[in-house]
Amino acid sequence: MRKKQNHFFYLALGLLLTQTTLAEGWAEGFDLFMNNCSECHQRSGRGIKGIYPSLIKSEIVTGNGLDIAQVLIIGRGEMPSFADAMTAKEMAQIINYIRHAWGNEKNLKTNVNVSADNILQLLQK
Ligand code: HEC
Repeated sequence: MRKKQNHFFYLALGLLLTQTTLAEGWAEGFDLFMNNCSECHQRSGRGIKGIYPSLIKSEIVTGNGLDIAQVLIIGRGEMPSFADAMTAKEMAQIINYIRHAWGNEKNLKTNVNVSADNILQLLQK
């Protein structure tokens, strides 16, 4: 009986820690988004029609996450590259934030968070 209780305790603790980590990751991602992206894509993520694409329901955003990383690393059209302006960790935080913001979470093809290591691998290519 004791053993079982311990088991539940660690399970609950584990869940709590995961949730806290995620929430913190998104809070930082939110700040980074506001400071680096919202000027064009707007705080709402909706962009400006015909100029800056909406990041809501975007296939690139709801894909595997690495597609967004490519856009951030290479830049795209009028969007500058962020490869020199941000760390891999910061890019991962922004990516994970926008994938969970504005209802995107419901449309994710794979609900796996991008890590700084994932980004570093892309940067080395
Ligand atoms: C100077 C304005 C500007 C800034 C700042 C900017 N973007 Fe963009 N972004 C654009 C434009 C313009 C496009 C479309 C480029 C094209 O397809 O020609 C775009 C495209 C994208 C796309 C692809 C969307 C799709 O479905 O095609 C993503 C994802 C994206 N931006 C994310 C970001 C993130 C995250 C940031 C902040 C780190 C950011 N952008 C900062 C202008 C900007």
